[in-house]
Amino acid sequence: MNKALRKAVIAGNWKMNKTPAEAKVLIEEMKPLVADADCEVVLCVPFVDIPAAIEVAKGSNIKIGAENVHFKASGAYTGEIAADMLKELGVEYVVIGHSERRQYFGETDQTVNLRTLAALGAGLKPIVCVGETLEQRELGYTETLLKFQTKMALTNVTAEQLKDVVVAYEPVWAIGTGVTATAEQADEGNGYCRAAIAEVYGTDVAETVTIQYGGSMNAKNADELVSKVNVDGGLIGGASLKAEDFSIIVKAASK
Ligand code: PGA
Repeated sequence: MNKALRKAVIAGNWKMNKTPAEAKVLIEEMKPLVADADCEVVLCVPFVDIPAAIEVAKGSNIKIGAENVHFKASGAYTGEIAADMLKELGVEYVVIGHSERRQYFGETDQTVNLRTLAALGAGLKPIVCVGETLEQRELGYTETLLKFQTKMALTNVTAEQLKDVVVAYEPVWAIGTGVTATAEQADEGNGYCRAAIAEVYGTDVAETVTIQYGGSMNAKNADELVSKVNVDGGLIGGASLKAEDFSIIVKAASK
């Protein structure tokens, strides 16, 4: 991390876990554990958990995020949720382009970009996910792919809007597998994303963008990962479902 230049953000991604009642219990447990954080603390929760999560998190330093958002403002899109709907509830962040959405729900670089623009237009802060598969890594395409995905996701995003964007480098092979990228691999991947941003917006701007690492980040490896200059926090799946573990990661990013 380089806290002099950019904000560290630790965000939980609960995925399809926890009912609203369970969400309240978990956030209550987390609140005192992360109260002293010297980083941004975010919990991205299932849509239906959002009102309960916002109610419980009120008055604490925990910000609530969603896990996806539609790219249209309204209309005939059965089952979808628009950015304004989230904003009105008090949502601040939204995960966009998670690899599970790319893999299972037809998300493309273009829809990731449209969702990012919709989120920014409504005043939400997108956490834009990029990452290579194991096959792409083994073929030697990691740098090319990360730069392409990052640039595609940010197409038509202004330098001013970029201040509200968080990028999350999540190697697909490290998500939910227990296989973490080494701290060097994480730093390198985040560095490629930053380089892509620099190619479009210039180095000074790129140096201010928060770029998280995600993929089996946990209480044991968080310290080493966030010690890397390009790793400005994390997007945490499994370990964000355990208050104690999540708080240890928050502490690592608070140093
Ligand atoms: P994981 O998930 O921490 O369970 O690997 C990370 C993510 O998918 O954001």
